[in-house]
Amino acid sequence: MVKIMFVCLGNICRSPMAEYLMKDYLVKAGKQKDFVIASSAISSNEVGNPVYMGTKKILNALNIDCSKKRAVVLNKSDYNKFDYFIGMDESNRNCMIKLFDGDKQKKVFCLLDFTDNPRPVADPWYTGDFEKAYLDISSGLKSFYKFLGI
Ligand code: 4NP
Repeated sequence: MVKIMFVCLGNICRSPMAEYLMKDYLVKAGKQKDFVIASSAISSNEVGNPVYMGTKKILNALNIDCSKKRAVVLNKSDYNKFDYFIGMDESNRNCMIKLFDGDKQKKVFCLLDFTDNPRPVADPWYTGDFEKAYLDISSGLKSFYKFLGI
């Protein structure tokens, strides 16, 4: 069983997009039983809120339902519960390392570090560009699947 936590600032735009895209991929590949996929926030600003409309529209257009998701905050105790923590930008990574008091088991990554062109997933909460976030996240996930050998 491989346990993966996607992380962003608010857990309403980028990390839920990654969570639900990966869950959909795993279902289609018949591998969902081998994985636990979750997402959470660095900030507690949006805790309890549903997925933001821009992300929901992208997922719904792909027939992916995220209506049950509510934003949750990442906890220090999560470090021992997951194998990978995949942030969306350098700030997410730095905050995770601070929260976890380091990263002794080398579990913390940025999603686009798995690609040939490491860069942050620009936050559509600020840019308004959910399509670009989708293209970046899809490209990062494709490389992450290769890294995982799935
Ligand atoms: P996300 O976007 O990190 O991709 O979920 C954000 C959503 C909300 C806030 C920041 C980023 N906020 O500050 O409320």
